[in-house]
Amino acid sequence: MASVEIAGLRKLYGDVVALSDINISIPSGSFFTLLGPSGCGKTTLLRTIAGFHNQNAGRISVDGHSIEGLPAHRRDVGMVFQDYAIFPHISVRENVAFGLKQRKISASEITKRVNDVLDVVQLGAFADRMPHELSGGQQQRVGLARAIVIRPKVLLMDEPLSNLDARLRVDLRAELRRIQRDLGITTVYVTHDQEEALAMSDTVCVMYEGVIQQAASPLDIYLRPVNKFVATFVGANNFLAINRSGSQLVLLSGGAKVLGSCVDATDIVCAIRPETILAKPGSVAPVGDEIAIPATLSNVSFVGREMEVIAVTDQGETLKSLARPDPEIIGLSQNSSVTLCVNRSDLAFFEAGDAGGCIG
Ligand SMILES: Nc1ncnc2c1ncn2[C@@H]1O[C@H](COP(=O)(O)OP(=O)(O)O)[C@@H](O)[C@H]1O
Ligand SMILES: [Mg+2]
Repeated sequence: MASVEIAGLRKLYGDVVALSDINISIPSGSFFTLLGPSGCGKTTLLRTIAGFHNQNAGRISVDGHSIEGLPAHRRDVGMVFQDYAIFPHISVRENVAFGLKQRKISASEITKRVNDVLDVVQLGAFADRMPHELSGGQQQRVGLARAIVIRPKVLLMDEPLSNLDARLRVDLRAELRRIQRDLGITTVYVTHDQEEALAMSDTVCVMYEGVIQQAASPLDIYLRPVNKFVATFVGANNFLAINRSGSQLVLLSGGAKVLGSCVDATDIVCAIRPETILAKPGSVAPVGDEIAIPATLSNVSFVGREMEVIAVTDQGETLKSLARPDPEIIGLSQNSSVTLCVNRSDLAFFEAGDAGGCIG
């Protein structure tokens, strides 16, 4: 167990800035996830921690000690890769023992540790199989066993579930989390899958174009995104145009006054999560603290436990609502009038542009 601190980290490939001023503090024993679209720098950051890349600036410390200059094999990190990276020509047991043999550990100790770790990843019965005799999920368990058997201070995982089919991915993510908790090992996990990140992590760190956008608990990332990029990348969101009218900010669609103009930003959008929008048939006045947005029904899909409503405002903005199935809405024909009702407390405001900040 160890804490990891990263300060002012910068990494260039030629003149491409892959990481720009990365500052992160990862508490000992926690599960820390780097989440972002392809090319945002996740793998570069992980491999720089592992010692496969040298940074151009900044510092990485483990338990308060800089690991500057230490080669990868002396950094005390275990790494799990997307493509398993296990040796095809030796058995499961030999794969897991490999790192221990390199470290000149005694044969009896190796046998004991390999058996223990194979139990942890539930592969005890498969110890003498060859990799090609295992499923993808089992091969990735070998990858994990190989990383943890050396008892690293920090476990690094780069999209370890991406090559598995959807069902197995969900099973194995719970399993990975259980093992991580049992071992109490500080983990840096990389994924581009927001659901995986939210489900597994203590802290989710959202990255875009080499810059950390937000590092916070899954709930805060979802409920309190700091900018438009995070609000869009994590969960679905609808965006509505806003105008100033005197001292107020007003939704262009429906004209509801939504925010006092306490902000200087000129270009502001209003974000609304689909699950906070309730569609009602016809033209309905707002109730209590709601706003009501008139719209035209474009499509309703009823998928069992929920219905998805797509409707278009008079400004041409397409909004999605996710709600409990309502027979009245499901019975409407296309182009019917509907009213989209949202509580004011469920509105969020951002400066326009990808990384535009949160306003209120
Ligand atoms: N070896 C390399 N040489 C040059 N550019 C690279 C190299 N590896 C990655 N990059 C670039 O750095 C950026 C970040 O890449 P990467 O860390 O692989 O992102 P991610 O893992 O989030 O998909 C991308 O623009 C990518 O094209
Ligand atoms: Mg990557």
